[in-house]
Amino acid sequence: MRSLRRIVPLPAAGFSLLPPDTQAKKGPVAVRDFHPDLARLAERGILRLRLDSPGPGTDYSSNDYLGFARDPRVSAALAQAAATQGTGAGAARLLTGAHPLHRYLEQRLAALVGLPDALLFNTGYCANIGLLPAIAGPEDAIFSDALNHASLIDGCRLSRAAVFVYPHCQPAHLEALLLARPARRRVIVTESVFGMEGDLAPLADLRSLADRHGAMLVVDEAHSLGLMGAQGAGACAAAGIVPDALVGTLGKALGTFGAFVAGTTDLVAWLCNQARSFLFTTAPPPALSAAATHAVDLAAGPEGTQRRALLAQHRARVAAALRALAVPIPACDAPILPIHLGSPAAALQAATLLRNRGVLALPIRPPTVPEGTSRLRISLSAAHSDVEIDRLIGALTDLRSLL
Ligand SMILES: Cc1ncc(COP(=O)(O)O)c(C=O)c1O
Repeated sequence: MRSLRRIVPLPAAGFSLLPPDTQAKKGPVAVRDFHPDLARLAERGILRLRLDSPGPGTDYSSNDYLGFARDPRVSAALAQAAATQGTGAGAARLLTGAHPLHRYLEQRLAALVGLPDALLFNTGYCANIGLLPAIAGPEDAIFSDALNHASLIDGCRLSRAAVFVYPHCQPAHLEALLLARPARRRVIVTESVFGMEGDLAPLADLRSLADRHGAMLVVDEAHSLGLMGAQGAGACAAAGIVPDALVGTLGKALGTFGAFVAGTTDLVAWLCNQARSFLFTTAPPPALSAAATHAVDLAAGPEGTQRRALLAQHRARVAAALRALAVPIPACDAPILPIHLGSPAAALQAATLLRNRGVLALPIRPPTVPEGTSRLRISLSAAHSDVEIDRLIGALTDLRSLL
């Protein structure tokens, strides 16, 4: 198995919060002056910088859970298809960006998740901001888990529907809201495995609430597709439920790039007509669909089963080490282990301690997570070797003083 990216140190990989040319300037706010705004982010410890590289060390922050992002067979599928089909689709899908490789991948994905059809989007972000406004409008209501991903939040906002946020994974609260808030169409939206928490939505409860209260159920499987259920079909399949719309991403366990929404043929036909992030954008390169199809085949086959088993072993070892440090572990067995530290400064300090031990677990801070819940998010991959898991476990003990 190809190993994860080992990041080579760059000479000038500075980690200062604010480069010299973005220091806050004194004086009245000028309309084009963003220095004070940047300085405020820096003061709060939440300024992000683009670096040339995340720095030296082994990556424990990526979502390449099955290690397919560097798999030579997936890369070869991409290269071979690019050699004959070129690098770009050249146009939107409904114009001349159509390609049999896209359609084939859609059918493959629909079959994997057990729904009649699927539609490709350029990213998971595009899928969510396309899907929600296509199915809900000003007369409708969306019921959204409090810890849903930003793309779902933005999809809710763009829809102009009334949005009711229910406490994280609390179906009883959701039911109270459903009872109190009638609307033309009602949509419950949740992640299956929550990307920043590593926990699992109560999918069976949500399905039954949706059925009892006449609502649609939308489930974003970004962090469970390829990982859970038979053949990696996802958490809905594992829970034995069928959502009305299932969002899957290709850039995480499937190691490539892009996303899809699966559902009934009518829903997919509707999205083809109404999802603006599908309609008004260049189609993905066909070669990317060839690579993603290869990754789906690997994930759904014996190799996927093997990698999921290895990942489960890694996860059990790291979870045991964290438990020994009294870090709470999510009940679900996703390869995402958050270590809550509270403030951005504490998360940065913890990340620096680990970085000094060659462990890249980047700090997760607002607005990615709510204020006061900054954390490290350890994500594991089947591409990690046992030695790398040992190194991670050894380094985690350095965090004892911060916990
Ligand atoms: C739950 C969830 N949905 C959607 C996305 C967006 O996917 P993409 O990176 O393909 O835009 C993410 C990515 O982090 C995610 O965690």
